[in-house]
Amino acid sequence: MSSASARDLGDFPTPSAVADVLARETLGGALRRGDAPSVLDPACGEGALLLAAGALLRLHGVDQALASLTGVEIDAARAGGARRALTAHGLGGGKVVHGDALLRPAPLADASFDAVIANPPFLSPTANRGALPASLRSALSARLPHGLGALTNIAALFLADALQLVRPGGTVGMILPASFLTSRDAAPVRSAALRAGTLEWLWTGGTDVFAASVTVCGVVIRRAGRRRPTIRRSEGPQAQRIGGARFDPSAHCDGRPWRTDIDAPTAAAGGLVRDITTPVVGFRRHYYAVAGALRDDAAGQGRPLVTAGLIDPGRSLWGTRPARIAKADWQWPRVDDALLRERAEVTPWLAATAVPKVLVAVQTRVIECTVDEAGDVIPGVPVIALPIAGDDAWRLAAALTSPYLSKLAFTRHTGAAMSPDAIKMSGTEVGDLPLPAASAAWDRGAAALRRASRARTADEWYAALTRLGAEMGAAYELPSEEDPFDWWFDRLPPFRTG
Ligand SMILES: C[S@@+](CC[C@H](N)C(=O)[O-])C[C@H]1O[C@@H](n2cnc3c(N)ncnc32)[C@H](O)[C@@H]1O
Repeated sequence: MSSASARDLGDFPTPSAVADVLARETLGGALRRGDAPSVLDPACGEGALLLAAGALLRLHGVDQALASLTGVEIDAARAGGARRALTAHGLGGGKVVHGDALLRPAPLADASFDAVIANPPFLSPTANRGALPASLRSALSARLPHGLGALTNIAALFLADALQLVRPGGTVGMILPASFLTSRDAAPVRSAALRAGTLEWLWTGGTDVFAASVTVCGVVIRRAGRRRPTIRRSEGPQAQRIGGARFDPSAHCDGRPWRTDIDAPTAAAGGLVRDITTPVVGFRRHYYAVAGALRDDAAGQGRPLVTAGLIDPGRSLWGTRPARIAKADWQWPRVDDALLRERAEVTPWLAATAVPKVLVAVQTRVIECTVDEAGDVIPGVPVIALPIAGDDAWRLAAALTSPYLSKLAFTRHTGAAMSPDAIKMSGTEVGDLPLPAASAAWDRGAAALRRASRARTADEWYAALTRLGAEMGAAYELPSEEDPFDWWFDRLPPFRTG
């Protein structure tokens, strides 16, 4: 098939790692209960999802469910390919129907399956209008009145229909264009989905899943499921589990965008960062004043300048690695105080930063901060300074370095930075981050960060950060399924030396 006609049918087969995750997330609940669910893929292509579902059913010893494994495929050659694939994998008892699933060929009917699993075609809204023949449009308008906005992506129609094809209590697991979560055109289908069922799993896959420049997501919705305030979450091209997230259906009804929020109520028990310090930020005038007063001096006079590039979690690499400032490399960048004091416009900022403080880098994949105990460091713009001294400084830095705050900041503040994967926060936004209640776990997290700051090897550093992550998870009282430790650990930067 040429790539143009493949695109017309919206054909990008599901990678097997993603197919396995979607099968587990869709069928896991029924299989754990010992059920033998009947499974339908209404856009089965050459059968990637049917094979994943079949393998999972077999793994759970419910071979009797294999005979009800059903695929529908509009393209005859692919339907044949799916039949051959099922047979080759010993799943020949399943059936593949050649037909248009939206026209409900037998055995498709309302409430006729326990689960639907699909990666339906994602036709662009304009292609979609052309692609829906009048007969199909009229059949659908009777069945899915809410799904037929002129610009509704066809994938959303597959979701709306799947929620009718499953029995009450059954699940629909589907890969969709990410625009489904937020677009106005998908709003009627989103709101119908939350009326019909409960969102249980949400995967934000990003752009690297298919050989197509489309950003995808995945959902599992249980028809008439029990309302619950949290959902399971996965992320990235391999659909890696990242714990849970808050998802309040009442806040997402009426077609409002589906967003997750991991702000657990227990997490703000200690108030906010701005209750204990006032963030100090520099602007262009500070940057240029400092750049004009720099000298490269190992042991000389002047306050050391620490740029964002010299900050790693818990560590300052000043003097170990060069800093890039005003298009030049500086091994020991120091600021000549006398020169700088002549610039009245920066005096208040200089004074405000000449104190012990926590320094927070911006545009990083996790929050990265370091403690300036002596109070002599000048923060390189746009580093954010949080004046605070002694043990409180280490406690604050440990909270900021915690997996939880990185995840929260990532949820609130990605997309603003040059790199869409980086966290970019203003001073005010850092001030709005929540602190845990005082606890021994928080103190141990702070002690772990001190060890990270002195680490001489990668092993020492990662060991200290691992301890910090665990202690701060306890300090924030996160249920283990909501703890983003693994997500955070995978995002830590490498250990850097000179
Ligand atoms: C994105 S591919 C996914 C294939 C397969 N489920 C997988 O995961 O690899 C979508 C498939 O849906 C088929 N298709 C498109 N419209 C359809 C329809 N109305 N009914 C049934 N299949 C359809 C396409 O031919 C294509 O094979």
